[in-house]
Amino acid sequence: MSDLTALKTKYAEQIDSADSLQALDDVRVAALGKKGEVSLQMRTLGQMSPEEKKVMGPALNGLKNELADLVEARKSVLEADALNAALASETLDMSLPVDASVGSLHPVMQVMEEMAVIFADMGFAVAEGPDIEDDFHNFTALNFPPGHPARDMHDTFFLKPDADGNKMVLRTHTSPVQIRTMMSQKPPIRIIVPGRTYRCDSDQTHTPMFHQVEGLVIDKTTHMGHLKGCLMDFVSAFFETDVETRFRPHHFPFTEPSAEMDVRYERVGDEIRIGQGDNWMEILGCGMVHPNVLVNCGLDPDEYQGFAFGMGVDRLAMLKYGMPDLRDMFAADGRWLSHYGFSPLLQANLATGLS
Ligand code: PHE
Repeated sequence: MSDLTALKTKYAEQIDSADSLQALDDVRVAALGKKGEVSLQMRTLGQMSPEEKKVMGPALNGLKNELADLVEARKSVLEADALNAALASETLDMSLPVDASVGSLHPVMQVMEEMAVIFADMGFAVAEGPDIEDDFHNFTALNFPPGHPARDMHDTFFLKPDADGNKMVLRTHTSPVQIRTMMSQKPPIRIIVPGRTYRCDSDQTHTPMFHQVEGLVIDKTTHMGHLKGCLMDFVSAFFETDVETRFRPHHFPFTEPSAEMDVRYERVGDEIRIGQGDNWMEILGCGMVHPNVLVNCGLDPDEYQGFAFGMGVDRLAMLKYGMPDLRDMFAADGRWLSHYGFSPLLQANLATGLS
């Protein structure tokens, strides 16, 4: 029996000091393997007297089980150590590099965020719609009858017609999202729609792809005074100064009455100064939603009314941040971006200033 105690002590110590899974397995084989010391002892049971066997049998079995348990316990410890070591040595740093020169926010994104912050503060939610639209949402539901000359003024990009001859379009404005919203939501509605729009046009102040932010408010009592107040508040918040504005009568098929809003500005050399001078620059179209449009969306014009507006984001970015040519905005020139871009780490907010 004292032999067994010695065996146990010997192997327990070896198991405890095994410092790798391989070393541990070597100890296991030496003790419990086919030719291991404990297994050889078990083989001697056959030659023992029944009395001896009664004592040694259970003792040897107990030893075998105890050592096996110790091996398992040590194995778990070694495996956990190996995993922790791998985790520590194979880390991947996925955090954003703090070097802000690595990337910057395009002025269009910056201006869209500034607009969203200002309108969110007035209680507007953000809605979106697809860039590829059908004729119904882009034109018909907005009170452009088929064949109406106003359709041609949009310089529309058409896609190839489908089997039935229907042509999808690249949306020429964000106004189709007015329709999508009124058809899927119950008033009161108060949304802005930032997004890309497309017209076949290119010069210093036009690019074939440009950005608009649409606005739509529908409830039972909203009137033209609310429209003016909302847009005037927007303009002074956006330019972060008092800006003189004027509303000029205009025509859009989907609003009645309709207007365009201008801001006072002056050109000094290459620079445009907002809020002073004798010139007026148009920045948006707006009006009261036309009753036909409400009807097209299943709303009763005797119960509901409201206003809509649509503004050109790129032009507002040009005006606010002094960029002379609209086409540069989408030329993907790294030098232009590093000059006019914004730090991605500074979020526009009304508390610390927009830009
Ligand atoms: N959709 C018009 C445009 O792109 C702008 C607009 C929107 C006018 C909403 C009135 C109301 O020119």
